[in-house]
Amino acid sequence: MLLGQLGVDQASKGQGLAKALVRHALDQVLLVSKLAGVAVVVVDLLDESLRPFYEGQLDFKPTKSGSLRLYVEVAALADGKKPLE
Ligand SMILES: CC(C)(COP(=O)(O)OP(=O)(O)OC[C@H]1O[C@@H](n2cnc3c(N)ncnc32)[C@H](O)[C@@H]1OP(=O)(O)O)[C@@H](O)C(=O)NCCC(=O)NCCS
Repeated sequence: MLLGQLGVDQASKGQGLAKALVRHALDQVLLVSKLAGVAVVVVDLLDESLRPFYEGQLDFKPTKSGSLRLYVEVAALADGKKPLE
């Protein structure tokens, strides 16, 4: 499942909104995955500056070297591991 790119208004940045939104989206994917087999969630970074946010804060993993596409396995979500902690 491809996660759409998100944006937070300048005035509201730094309040944890983006992290909460992504975690909410992943919770929804987990529900959907019980009805239809979803193996991974992927996101296409706008640019490299977003890598620490998705990898560091939300435990997404890199795909192939140099790619802006990251992924997280639904099985990891179901195990209760990050990013659902
Ligand atoms: C990137 C963006 C969505 C972050 O929104 P935000 O609501 O300010 O982020 P949060 O407050 O949820 O940040 C949560 C944590 O991630 C960190 N973080 C946020 N943006 C980061 C970045 N670009 N790189 C590294 N860490 C980042 C924050 O410091 C915070 O860390 P903490 O919990 O240790 O304090 C926002 O800056 C934005 O809209 N950017 C422009 C659009 C964009 O780049 N969208 C992403 C497309 S892939």
